[in-house]
Amino acid sequence: MERKVTVPDILKRKGGDPIVALTAYDFPFGRIADIAGIDFILVGDSLGMVVQGMDTTLPVTLDEMVYHCRMVARARQRALLVCDLPFGSYQVSPVDAVRNASRLVKEGGAEAVKLEGGVAMAETIRAIASVDIPVMGHIGLTPQSVHRMGGHKVQGQRHGAKAGQRERIIDDALAVEDAGAFALVLEGMPLDLAAEITDRLTIPTIGIGAGAHCDGQILVLHDVLGLSDRTSPKFAKRYAELWQAAGAAIADYAREVRNHTFPNDSHSFHSLTSVPREEKAAAEG
Ligand code: KIV
Repeated sequence: MERKVTVPDILKRKGGDPIVALTAYDFPFGRIADIAGIDFILVGDSLGMVVQGMDTTLPVTLDEMVYHCRMVARARQRALLVCDLPFGSYQVSPVDAVRNASRLVKEGGAEAVKLEGGVAMAETIRAIASVDIPVMGHIGLTPQSVHRMGGHKVQGQRHGAKAGQRERIIDDALAVEDAGAFALVLEGMPLDLAAEITDRLTIPTIGIGAGAHCDGQILVLHDVLGLSDRTSPKFAKRYAELWQAAGAAIADYAREVRNHTFPNDSHSFHSLTSVPREEKAAAEG
């Protein structure tokens, strides 16, 4: 195994070799991602949409995040493990946020937590980081703000200081770094805005739908693998078509059971009780 990736390793990659990140939500895919050499695995609250089949990430609970994080924690050996704080688990108060982040570490096996928001979350990020739980920020298109944004819409395309506007997103980025985050996810924003933020920050930026000028990239596992019958977002690239492959495999299985070609003798067990050799010889005369 290559050496374990740590939070200081991620920090050192600022401006260096691109950081490669991917989401995972269970043991098999956590293991596959780890063996493939992903630098950090995010147990994202996107699991609400790609695993639980919901329209938004909002209903995902802390217990569910702990459950999925624990599965991935068992699977990965090298990658850094980051787990999302779900909606409602950190917005009430910094004390609440520290308590809930601690659960992801103690019960889920997370090595860092991620939360959404900029200026408004600075005090919360500071509180979590102050107890040595590393925090990753997430600004721009923040899925937990879906109702404020009016959908999962690209942010920062217009100038202004209101939520979702360019200068506000830059302020958000600076506030997250100042509060002590070790990395920052930039989601769904123009590539020149992501480039400007990447240049101004000393912590690595991780892009998703934010162009090539970030210090790293992250994608949702199901988009990378084509493990969905929905069209993937514009910014994602499908490197496989597992939805079709899985459907074809299951249809083959059903066909073979129905036409009696599965199971055959090679899939069958044989009885161990055979006639002892002496009895067989006596019977044969
Ligand atoms: O929940 C998630 O998967 C995420 C990534 C898209 C960054 O936050």
